[in-house]
Amino acid sequence: MTDRYASFVQSAAGRALVKRLGLPDPPRLRRHHPGDPLLTGPALLGAATGARYAKPVAMRLTAAGVELADPAAAAPQRYGALLFDATGITDSTELRQLYDFFHPQARAVLPSGRVIVLGTPPQECATPREATAQRALEGLVRSIGKEFGRGITAQLVQVSRAQGDPSVGLESTLRFLLSGRSAYVSGQVIRVAGGAASVPADWDRPLDGQVVLVTGAARGIGAALAKVLARDGAQVVALDIPAAGDALAAVANDIGGTAVQLDLTAPDAPARLAEHLASRHGRVDVVVHNAGITRDKTLGRMDADRWDQVLDVNLSSQERINDVLLERELIPAGGRIISVSSIAGIAGNRGQTNYATSKAGVIGLVDSLAPALRERGISVNAVAPGFIETRLTARIPLVVREAGRRMNSLAQGGLPVDVAETIGWLAWPASGGISGNVVRVCGQSLLGA
Ligand SMILES: NC(=O)c1ccc[n+]([C@@H]2O[C@H](COP(=O)([O-])OP(=O)(O)OC[C@H]3O[C@@H](n4cnc5c(N)ncnc54)[C@H](O)[C@@H]3O)[C@@H](O)[C@H]2O)c1
Repeated sequence: MTDRYASFVQSAAGRALVKRLGLPDPPRLRRHHPGDPLLTGPALLGAATGARYAKPVAMRLTAAGVELADPAAAAPQRYGALLFDATGITDSTELRQLYDFFHPQARAVLPSGRVIVLGTPPQECATPREATAQRALEGLVRSIGKEFGRGITAQLVQVSRAQGDPSVGLESTLRFLLSGRSAYVSGQVIRVAGGAASVPADWDRPLDGQVVLVTGAARGIGAALAKVLARDGAQVVALDIPAAGDALAAVANDIGGTAVQLDLTAPDAPARLAEHLASRHGRVDVVVHNAGITRDKTLGRMDADRWDQVLDVNLSSQERINDVLLERELIPAGGRIISVSSIAGIAGNRGQTNYATSKAGVIGLVDSLAPALRERGISVNAVAPGFIETRLTARIPLVVREAGRRMNSLAQGGLPVDVAETIGWLAWPASGGISGNVVRVCGQSLLGA
């Protein structure tokens, strides 16, 4: 499904009309293509006094081919990214350093550029004053995401000192956030820690050799996921219901993956899936719980079947499958569980009590399972998509659909590939230090913000 308005505003007539009438102006977003540089211009790096990561970040960015701008250059420059290491800020009076860095450059960021602030998780701060100042960074980043426009995104990356050296996890996250892979992710707070992370031999194939299960892979976000993960080097096991068998086979053939026809709600589904993974691959490195359904009705009009089906597909089946795969030790150390939640699970939605309950439950699953699996070196995260252009959103009535599409900082819906790229980053072996996160892929939607 296409956003005709977004295409129209890119035309000469469209541009004129948008300007004259002050209509929403969705920018063309920069998306990733293999071999692309991380940025379209140099990055300007700044650091607060006493910051911890400025030097290692500069080294890793240079190694990744990013040109670092000279802060003392006389001629005005335009930047692909502004990065500020705020980990040295320990008191609210020191927040002024953010203004001093960002104010002169506020108009110097290129379209689809990036703003990234590094901070410390407030719960790890040594004093209440430090925690207060670190919490304040969220407000700055979220406002920049809403203010800069032109496809520029802004994120806060909180770097934890709790579990060893976070620099590998930090590198994978910076590579994701700077690149076109994160086109529809903005206004997010991402926590990165040290963990079971390893640097890939080739950053263009960060999933080389990984066995990845994708549920609901026959179409929509799941089909995009299968393609993106295979492009990045994974061996993909694509699963969907038998009724979607033809579409599933087409996806699997296209990427050289395997297809599993299985209804996740069948009583024997977890055992059959475990059997398949054990006999074909001996393990599964990454499990992506993407399959999901909606059965919308206001609560008073909803029959019990609609409630039961949605809760079972979207939440309970995930738990049953996790239990069996973990019990049989098919997910090795360094493995990943990644679930697809929704902003409906964060903000709630009229007519979706069943769906929102299931999707909030997915966030609960991440919160509870991530600490429980830390010892085993398995990380657990979720993505929460906002308005994504798929068959699911094509069914929404026109006026509501148009509102949903525009009510975010990027004034457009995301594409299935945007969700897929975000899940891909969480799946990379290099992202092992990221666990317990729920990352919204919503263009900084106003809902639940
Ligand atoms: N499209 C959006 O805007 C949006 C927003 C937020 C969250 N999501 C979530 O993203 C995920 C994918 O959504 P989509 O838009 O691609 O939906 P979709 O309906 O296009 O695809 C979902 C897939 O899951 C499969 N599936 C359903 N029940 C199954 C079962 N019992 N066993 C196995 N497979 C089953 C379907 O056959 C289908 O191929 C879902 O979890 C959805 O809730 C989507």
